[in-house]
Parts: sequence; structure tokens; C-alpha cells
Amino acid sequence: MSAASRTGIAIVGCGYVADSYRHCLPLHSSVLQLVGVWDRDPQRLAAYRSCWGDHAYGGLDEALGDERIQIVVNLTDPENHADVTDAAIAAGKHVYTEKPLAMTTGEAIALRDRARAAGVRIAAAPCNFLGEAAQTLWKAVRDGRIGRPVLAYAELDDGMVHRANYQTWVSRSGRVWPARGEFETGCTFEHAGYALTVLAGMFGPVRRVTSFAALLIADKKAEPPLPHPAPDFSVGMLEFDNGIVARLTNSIVAPYEHRFRIVGEDGALDIKEPWDYACPVVLRRPSEGRLSRILERRFGGFGGSRVPHVRPTPFRGGRGKPTMDFSRGIAELAAAIRENRPSRLDEDFAVHVTEVTEVLQYPERFERPHVVRSTFAPIEPMDWAR
Ligand SMILES: NC(=O)c1ccc[n+]([C@@H]2O[C@H](COP(=O)([O-])OP(=O)(O)OC[C@H]3O[C@@H](n4cnc5c(N)ncnc54)[C@H](O)[C@@H]3O)[C@@H](O)[C@H]2O)c1
Repeated sequence: MSAASRTGIAIVGCGYVADSYRHCLPLHSSVLQLVGVWDRDPQRLAAYRSCWGDHAYGGLDEALGDERIQIVVNLTDPENHADVTDAAIAAGKHVYTEKPLAMTTGEAIALRDRARAAGVRIAAAPCNFLGEAAQTLWKAVRDGRIGRPVLAYAELDDGMVHRANYQTWVSRSGRVWPARGEFETGCTFEHAGYALTVLAGMFGPVRRVTSFAALLIADKKAEPPLPHPAPDFSVGMLEFDNGIVARLTNSIVAPYEHRFRIVGEDGALDIKEPWDYACPVVLRRPSEGRLSRILERRFGGFGGSRVPHVRPTPFRGGRGKPTMDFSRGIAELAAAIRENRPSRLDEDFAVHVTEVTEVLQYPERFERPHVVRSTFAPIEPMDWAR
């Protein structure tokens, strides 16, 4: 693809996660061209610029008025997602937004409808569903490796964050992890999408949700104290259209465990870390004999065999580098626009994920169990994973 036909993008919000996107962007340099960036915090903008050297706009209007820009990448904090997305839609730009699309389902639906009326598209993070591990897992399910899938467990316990020295978590351009915002947004809004997108992408829309959420440790060493800390634990049972049920746990109070397990009639598939595209997918056969039952009991799921990834991960994560290609979702939206096909992370999918997430984090806002109203069309596997 020639430089002129690459999709022009602008990043709005140059905070902690922007560095991860920027780090991954060269993986897509043949299809995406970062034209400029904007952050309303001048110090942040300057720190980002001196790290990456990208062109900085003088304001949001200037970025949105740039005719070279087709996609606005909204990396602001969740409180500001809707305003920035709305402004981009009004300017006739497609939007790739960090999750959540909005902080309420109503707001998410309004954004989707405004985008449709304006003839532009929205797609939302996370995009780990497009990663090699998730696509391999999904293909193994489609290929019948575990028989009929019936149950999923997804634990997104993100460690005992209230005891961690999170003040020392610093991104490449020097942004300290925005703890206050994370604690006020809530770990469910921050993280549930990493499991929900994979589950819903594979199994289709969630039909009913029964959930529980609580603020278990209000004091997380934030100074001054947080005025509105969100729940730091949630658990929900999701029932999918096709009868599969899933338990999804989110917390920032329990030791780190990101287990993702799909159970079928004939076996189970495990991913230890759905945030890592290169994570092995492990197939476990049922323990039938006496010895294998004893081993399973003693060693907690001893054994299992690796399912070869459908393709090698085209980057190396770890040692301070992201284990996810954050920019793959932007490239997917750009390809969908170019090819005039639905994006795998489109606005209906994002509304659905937002609705289920809101029920998980704020069960008191909904009837119980909540019948999910939003839906989305079936999603295709990545071409390289068919
Ligand atoms: N922090 C993480 O580890 C992480 C990881 C994955 C995804 N995310 C997601 O990324 C998004 C951003 O998170 P973050 O951690 O980078 O937050 P952050 O607070 O570090 O960065 C947000 C930036 O957006 C800017 N901003 C806010 N409103 C703006 C506006 N109207 N115009 C221009 N700039 C504006 C802020 O000044 C700030 O620099 C969130 O949706 C979060 O859920 C964060």
C-alpha cells in the first residue's frame, strides 16, 4: 500500500496507555499513518512529544479539522470518552475508542446512533480478541477439540492493588499510572471487556446477566481520599443465546489471576493470560481413570497439551514491552472501512459490551436477572485463523 493510501489517524489523549499504542503502531506502518496527537494537558503533550517526536496539534478542533485524518483514536480517560467521540463524529471522523465506549449504556447507544446518522463508524477496545491466543482458542472450539462448549470461567483478579506501589508504575513517556481515575472508573469497567469481547465474539450475544458488585477496600492509599470509589470486586453469571454459561470475576483486591477457561463436554481449553497474544492455549482432557483423577486433584489440572497457535505472534512482548498489540484494533477498523465490511469490533458490539459491563459493575441499576437488550451480528474469525 502506498503512503498516500494509508489511513490517517490522530491520537487524542496522550496518557499512560498512549505509549502502549504508540509502541505497537510500527507493526501497522504499511496501513496506518499517525498524522498528529493532542492532549489538553500541556505537560502531558510535551512529555509525549519529547518521547515520540510526533506532530502535536494546537487543539482538538485543529485535529478534527485535519482532512488527512480518517480515524480519531480516543485514548482519553473513560470520563471523557463520550465527549471526545461525540466531537469526532460531529466532525465526520471514524472513531476507535479505548473502552468503555461510554460509562452508561444509554450514552453508548446515543453515540452509536449519532455515528450511524453521520455515516461514520465507531470501534472500541480492547482488541485482544483479535490476538493469536484468543483466535487459536476460538478455532480449537470451532474444530470441536472440546466437544460442545457449555461453560466458561474468566477471572480478572488484577492483584492487591491497594497494597502495590502503584505510584511507581510509569509509562515510557513518564506518565504515572492514573490510579485515582482507575479507582473511580472501577476495575470492572476497566477490565471486563478483555474477557467479554472474547466470550461474546466466540459465542454471540449475552442474553441474561446476574451480577454482584461491592467496594471491599475503600482506602487504596489515594491522597486526597477518593470521593467516589467504584466497586473493586464484581462477579457475574452470563447466559448466552446458545445456552453456554460463563462466570466472570473482576477485582483489584485479590492476588493476580487472569485465568480464562472454556469447558466443553469432552475437555477444556485454558489461557493463563488473555492480555498476552503469545500465551499458550492448553487443551485438557477429562480425567477418567483413577490415577489421572488423583493427579488432577493433587496437582490441580496436571498436564494438558498445547494447541499450536494458528500463526506466530508478529512481535515480542514482555520486559517492559506490551504483550498485546494495542493498535491491531485500529488497523482492523481501517481495513473494514477500506474493504467496506463490518469491523470485528464495531459499534453494536461495543454497545453490547458496555451494557453487560454496566450490569456487572452496577447491578442495582437493573432488574435481576437483567435481560440484555443490545445485540450484534455474528463476528468472523481473523482471515489467518479460519
Ligand atoms: N492505564 C492502563 O494501564 C490502561 C491499559 C489499557 C487501557 N487503558 C484505557 O486507556 C484509556 C486511557 O487510560 P490512561 O491510563 O492512558 O489514562 P490517563 O489519565 O493516563 O490519560 C488520559 C489522557 O487523556 C487526556 N484527556 C482527557 N480528556 C481530554 C480531552 N477532552 N481532550 C484531550 N485530552 C484529554 C488527559 O489529559 C490524559 O493525559 C482508558 O479508557 C483506560 O481504560 C488504560
